[in-house]
Formats: sequence, C-alpha cells, structure tokens
Amino acid sequence: MNNVLFCTGHELKYPNIVRADNCKIYDEQGNEYLDLESGVWCTSVGHCNPRIAKLMKEQSEKIIHTGYCYYNPIVEKASANILRITGIHNGKCVFLCSGSEAVELSVKIARSVAGKPYVLTMKDSYLSAFGSAGEKNISDWILFDWKNSSDIGKIPFDQISAFIFEPGSSSGLVHFPPEELVQKIINNVRDNGGIVVANEVTTGIGRTGNWFGHNHYNFTPDIVALGKGLGNGYPVSCVAISSKVSDKLDLGIFHYSQSHQNDPLGAAIANEVIAIIEDDDLLNKCRIKGADIVKRLRDIKNKFGIIKDVRGRGLMIAIEFESDENVSWADSINKELLKKNIILAKRPGFEVFRMDPALTIDNSDIDHFISSMESIIGGMTGHVV
Ligand SMILES: Cc1ncc(COP(=O)(O)O)c(C=O)c1O
Repeated sequence: MNNVLFCTGHELKYPNIVRADNCKIYDEQGNEYLDLESGVWCTSVGHCNPRIAKLMKEQSEKIIHTGYCYYNPIVEKASANILRITGIHNGKCVFLCSGSEAVELSVKIARSVAGKPYVLTMKDSYLSAFGSAGEKNISDWILFDWKNSSDIGKIPFDQISAFIFEPGSSSGLVHFPPEELVQKIINNVRDNGGIVVANEVTTGIGRTGNWFGHNHYNFTPDIVALGKGLGNGYPVSCVAISSKVSDKLDLGIFHYSQSHQNDPLGAAIANEVIAIIEDDDLLNKCRIKGADIVKRLRDIKNKFGIIKDVRGRGLMIAIEFESDENVSWADSINKELLKKNIILAKRPGFEVFRMDPALTIDNSDIDHFISSMESIIGGMTGHVV
C-alpha cells in the first residue's frame, strides 16, 4: 500500500482482501475470514448479495447518475418505500452519499426551519465525520449526558432547533437511552417548536430487529437520517423528511446541492435492500438470531465468569469483559479470535467487543463464533470445554 492514504485511525490488518460472500471475506491466498462487523456496519444483507449485484448490473446498464435538471423515476419509488417503512406519510426523501452527509443535511434543514440557536444530542452519540455535527464540541451544540437524567432541567428547550437522537449508540458501545427520558426530551423539544431527528445511520434498516432503532421508542421522528445498511456497502444515504418540516422548507432560500444527489443507482440499491429484507423476513430473523447469540454468550458468561455484560438489540450486540489489572481480557481474546480469522470490533482502551453482523448471517457462522469464544475463554480461564 504505497500510494494509499489510510487515515481511519484503525489498524489495517488485512491488506489483500479480494472477494466476499455474505459474512465471509477472502484474501488473495483464498484464506477465509468471518466478518462480524459487516465492513463498517454496512453490508446489511451480506457482502455481494446476489440480488444487489444483479440489480447493480442492470441499473448501471440503464443509468447511474443524473444531472440537476433531469431525474429517473426509480428515485420516486425508493423515496415512497423509505417513507412507508419510516411511517412518515406524505413526506419527502433526498438521497445522498454517506451517513455523515445525511446527518449534516438533517441538522441544516432543522436549523433552517426552526431557526433557534442550539442543537441537542446525547453526549455519547456519533453523528458525522465532518461539518457542524462532526465538530459537536462547538458552542451551538448541547451534549446531554443521559446517564445524569436529572440534568434535563438544565436544557434550554426554548432555544433548541433540533434534537438529534441516535436510538442506540453503536459507537458508544451499544447503550440504549431509557424510553421515559427520551420521551420527555422529545415532548419538551416539540412543545417549544423544535424538530426531532432520528439518526438511524447505524440503527436503521433492520439492525436492531425493527426497521429502525426509534421503533423501540414510542414516537415518529420529523426527520430520519439513513446510511450504512441502506446501500449494503454502496455509498448511498438518505434523509426522510415529514411534510410538517418539508412544507416549511423555503426552497427559495434553502439550497444544498452536490453532484450525486438523488442518483438513480444508489436509490435503486436502497429500494432493493428494503425488498430483500421484506422478502426474506430478515427483521424477524434478526430478532431471533440476535436473541440466540445473546443467550449463548450469557451462557458463556455464567460458565466462565470473565464476561461482565452481554447486551444488544437485534444484531447490534456488545460483550463487555470484567476489568482485571493483570490482563485485558478483551485484548487477549481478540488476539485469539483473529488467529481463528474472526473479525469483530474492539476499540483500544475499552473492555468491550461489538458485533454487527449482516442480517443474513448463517447459523453455521454463529455456531463457529460461539464455539470459538467458548474454547478461547475456556482455555484462558483454565476450564475444560
Ligand atoms: C450513528 C452514526 N451516525 C453517522 C455516522 C456517519 O456515517 P458515515 O461514516 O457513513 O459517514 C456513523 C458512522 O459510523 C454513525 O455511527
């Protein structure tokens, strides 16, 4: 990799991956690895899903990209589909390129419509790689620590344009803010003329066993930001906007244009991802497989004791290890998993694994992961498995 800038901040472990299939990736030598992270939580219906590959071929032979003054009807079809699953009736969608961009545009729209100085979000949320949401330490953001719920009284609700709610934080190591508190914040924001944005970049498109993370709460957002799993690895994202907001958006003043807005290929892929999830009953399968993984990991916890917590919703799961001053269980176990070619997320300095496999993960891959965890932890703790 002489000429490639790799600036993700993550360690590059496998520079020669040439092929992928569902949850497996393969290197040049044909070695097989189990990807329990779906790339960067993107391949919702599996790497190289055959229906997506076929659709991409067909759509790219028709039209990939459009100009500012013409468009392709697949974009309308995909928009209607996204509005249907978000429960936003008579709204509008715009297709973009990344989750960061979807969050940025959501913030920009909310600010433009509500016109108040602050944007509110939870302290542990990750929003964007760039722009106003990416630099949420700047003075017009309020970062609320939901673990100190009594601080809700300090929020200046009358000055909030938008509450950007990530309904289950994956970057924040799979924690779910409590429903009552979230509802209170939403009611206060709305009573004061603010807008509620659900950031569904990681929690959307079935990841938590429902279409969206906010379906685990009792509200319909005014704006939904989507990305990652929507494109199954292809860079397409979307902002779905309720008519309450879109009707107020003064398009004489509000502009946002970039070269790939509402490109047909991305919209066609998003449409097909939704169809695959519905045709293959993947929301239900996600719930069943997620519950199975959590149960089996909790059995390992009860048997060996070094796991502190197993938590998750659907196939967004975290395994937290007990802290020990002599050993990092997470580091040691991760090393052994990597030797077995099993990839999941381990953030430096945290005793936590996070896994977000494709909703299409094979049961045999789950079995392989669980039995590997059991034999590694059994070996390390001196138990015979
Ligand atoms: C909750 C959340 N929002 C937004 C983003 C940004 O998405 P992208 O990396 O596609 O720009 C991420 C990325 O990890 C995320 O986790």
